[in-house]
Amino acid sequence: MKLDGKRVLVTGASSGIGLELARVLAARGAVLAISSRSAERLEQVSEELASAVPGIRKPLPVACDIADEASVRHLIGACVESLGTVDVLINNAGICVYGSVEKTQIADFRALLDVNFLGPVQAMLEILPFMKRQGHGLIVNISSVAAIHGVPYLGAYSASKAALVALSQSMRAELAGSDVRVMLVYPDYTESAIFENETKVGGARRPEGPYAPASDVAEAIVRAIEAEKRDLILGTRGKALAFFDGTAPRLVENAMRKIAVELREEE
Ligand SMILES: NC(=O)c1ccc[n+]([C@@H]2O[C@H](COP(=O)([O-])OP(=O)(O)OC[C@H]3O[C@@H](n4cnc5c(N)ncnc54)[C@H](OP(=O)(O)O)[C@@H]3O)[C@@H](O)[C@H]2O)c1
Repeated sequence: MKLDGKRVLVTGASSGIGLELARVLAARGAVLAISSRSAERLEQVSEELASAVPGIRKPLPVACDIADEASVRHLIGACVESLGTVDVLINNAGICVYGSVEKTQIADFRALLDVNFLGPVQAMLEILPFMKRQGHGLIVNISSVAAIHGVPYLGAYSASKAALVALSQSMRAELAGSDVRVMLVYPDYTESAIFENETKVGGARRPEGPYAPASDVAEAIVRAIEAEKRDLILGTRGKALAFFDGTAPRLVENAMRKIAVELREEE
């Protein structure tokens, strides 16, 4: 797929992977809509992109709380109205909760599901009629390697990202025969603000890196879009996890148990 001139909506474009995606996509000539909750930050990003890539159309900033149904409806409506349609939707906005499942409150599970699962679901439901009518479209769902196998102290996060994987797989089958595709991306640990902003519920310390630069992750995602890949698992650890989870699940379980014990913090 050539991205030059394609209309692309990136959610969570104010920082981290989403911001880097917007930068790479702008450089490829995509016509962008960028979204997050902060209108002020989005305006800055839009201006930065417009001046960094001479000749591109200034990205459309649309403030949206992805956890709010009306807000998501407004986001998709504004993109369709201003850009004409959306060729590529990148569901990237996301949050994290870190700590043991036992210490995680139901409210934390709900917040994760609202942002990491129901938000993308609603964006897809809103955009699908347009994509089907125009006869093409690509939805890129940013999941996580933590969805391949539940990771200790990321139980609620892993579950929210695994829900997105399962739904995407169902949609792929249902969309058979149309030219609307769903791509899944599984990033490994990536440098971003997600770790500062996450809710820490306790019970464990965070593992030390390595963390991939968000710009490398964004470049890999854009290349995978161009190559029309179905799935992109990032990093050696992520690829090894997927391989061994399929071929030697006991090995993965033992490794996860070891990590859990190493990171556990008694109070
Ligand atoms: N970093 C990693 O190690 C890693 C690994 C695997 C997967 N991922 C996934 O990659 C995606 C991007 O994460 P990141 O690491 O780049 O994190 P980040 O730097 O914290 O960026 C998260 C983005 O989501 C937006 N966002 C958060 N809550 C939102 C809401 N309720 N409504 C709309 N936008 C919201 C944030 O903007 P506002 O705060 O302005 O709304 C921000 O633009 C997420 O889906 C994350 O789960 C990250």
